[in-house]
Amino acid sequence: MQTGLFIVIEGIDGTGKSTQVRRLGEWFVSHGREVVLSREPTDGPWGKKLRESASTGRLSPQDELQYFLNDRRQHVEEKIAPALVAGKVVILDRYYFSTMAYQGARGFDPANIRRMNEEFAPLPDLLLILDLDVDTAHQRIGHRGDSTNEFEKHESLTRCREIFLSLKDEPFTRVIDSSGTLDEVSARICSEVEAFVKFPPTPR
Ligand code: TYD
Repeated sequence: MQTGLFIVIEGIDGTGKSTQVRRLGEWFVSHGREVVLSREPTDGPWGKKLRESASTGRLSPQDELQYFLNDRRQHVEEKIAPALVAGKVVILDRYYFSTMAYQGARGFDPANIRRMNEEFAPLPDLLLILDLDVDTAHQRIGHRGDSTNEFEKHESLTRCREIFLSLKDEPFTRVIDSSGTLDEVSARICSEVEAFVKFPPTPR
């Protein structure tokens, strides 16, 4: 029986996560695995509220954190855990490392956020951090970075990147240089994943 494999792709906006999630999914399918692709915030009720708040005005930091936790709890229970039990490959575009980074940049202690999540959210087998300098990431999504708002965004994404990189020494983390073309980044991801699949640290 094949065991499930849980892979999370993280990184600041503009690092190409969603494309790489899709490509990695295709790679596993071509190797005969059943794949579940998902993302956070989800399309469930809490995720919808979070996405709406991006256009209708921001939630308080406390509510925002709580909504991300509620959304994730439901995601784990309804989708992630059942797929892993069924032996599927689950690939996520963002997970609780984004809460550490983004809500961390909003003032919460990343270590506390991590603890709250790990009470109910399983650790991934592999965390791929797509790393790119903030200026390049910003340019990729079409920001010029010259207004006050843009300056604040830049500051906050710099903090997010630092928090993501603080996870670099975890045994499950691989930092992926995300400069260059999509094909170059995919190749870097595939070689890390292939090495992991061939030589997993411990059987699940
Ligand atoms: P994103 O993946 O960029 O979605 P979309 O491509 O639909 O905009 O995620 C939306 C935002 O949510 C992104 O700026 C990061 C933020 N976010 C958090 O602040 N905390 C979290 O825990 C997660 C999962 C996302």
